[in-house]
Amino acid sequence: MRLVKSSVLGWKTPRTGLTVLIVIVLQVLGLKVGRPQESAPPQINEEIAKQEKIYRSRGAHVPSGYVTNRALWDYVEILPHGFCDALASLGSTDRWLDIGAGDGQAILDYYAPADRAPAVKCNGYRGRARAVAMSIEDRRTEKWQQQAASLGDDRIRYLSGKRLRQYSREELGKFQIITDVYGGFSYTEDLSQFVEKVLSVLEIDGVFYTMVQRVHLQHGNDTPGTRYETELVDAAGRDVTVCSWLRKTACALVCCESKSDWEAPTELINIRKICSDVSVGRMKLLQYEAGNPPGRRFQIGPY
Ligand SMILES: C[S@@+](CC[C@H](N)C(=O)[O-])C[C@H]1O[C@@H](n2cnc3c(N)ncnc32)[C@H](O)[C@@H]1O
Repeated sequence: MRLVKSSVLGWKTPRTGLTVLIVIVLQVLGLKVGRPQESAPPQINEEIAKQEKIYRSRGAHVPSGYVTNRALWDYVEILPHGFCDALASLGSTDRWLDIGAGDGQAILDYYAPADRAPAVKCNGYRGRARAVAMSIEDRRTEKWQQQAASLGDDRIRYLSGKRLRQYSREELGKFQIITDVYGGFSYTEDLSQFVEKVLSVLEIDGVFYTMVQRVHLQHGNDTPGTRYETELVDAAGRDVTVCSWLRKTACALVCCESKSDWEAPTELINIRKICSDVSVGRMKLLQYEAGNPPGRRFQIGPY
């Protein structure tokens, strides 16, 4: 039997019968797989089906590492410097999209009434802009339903049932700020298509704030013995940092802050869209292992 080597996955054995079944199930569920899976090895589809179970998990079945209720305070701590000021500068006609919002707690905190607002080290951030939470699975809580009803006027919206790539630009409109905390950027099977879609719904001069853990860091030494979760390699198999790949994106200004002293080495990423002809370097998915977040290995083009 053929064995496939994976630095994130270890050795794997393909199971073709099960694979065919999984692909059929994915199709029946309407879980359209994107470009990478169309030609993906069978074991990747198996892992994607496992990942789907994590998204659908509820109550006691939610794996402990799959955190879906981070507060706005956590976002301010985790996202790159500048997020707080950018949030505070939004006006009533501006829009904020949180991709991979989970319960949408950060947006609830943004809109919390002044007397119940959580302590956030972020002056003047309070809810003026319209905010959209996006999650594959619907994790809206009673609190979300109540706050959405009391705010009325569509000020906070929750989109679920699809991945970012499955929305049209018209459905989403444009945003001044897009955030992603352990969301699509950490979970997608097609990082290139994901970033391109994010930039397509960002206003010019708008900023995408994101992060990714357990990657080769841009500045700062990698911690010896790091178990990498997201790896990028070039055609010769050499490691490429996520920031050096992103910096080749046309019409985007990319800033990275490497956190080598965090428990899991993490790259904080801020991408400002500076013109409309965005073009993101292609990559193909080599390996994928379900998890929180999943293990992924991509090869950047040319292949
Ligand atoms: C671990 S939770 C993080 C939730 C929240 N950001 C937090 O920190 O509490 C991951 C979230 O990302 C969402 N997600 C993953 N991939 C996505 C994609 N391609 N498009 C939209 N949402 C995605 C999941 O559905 C889920 O809501």
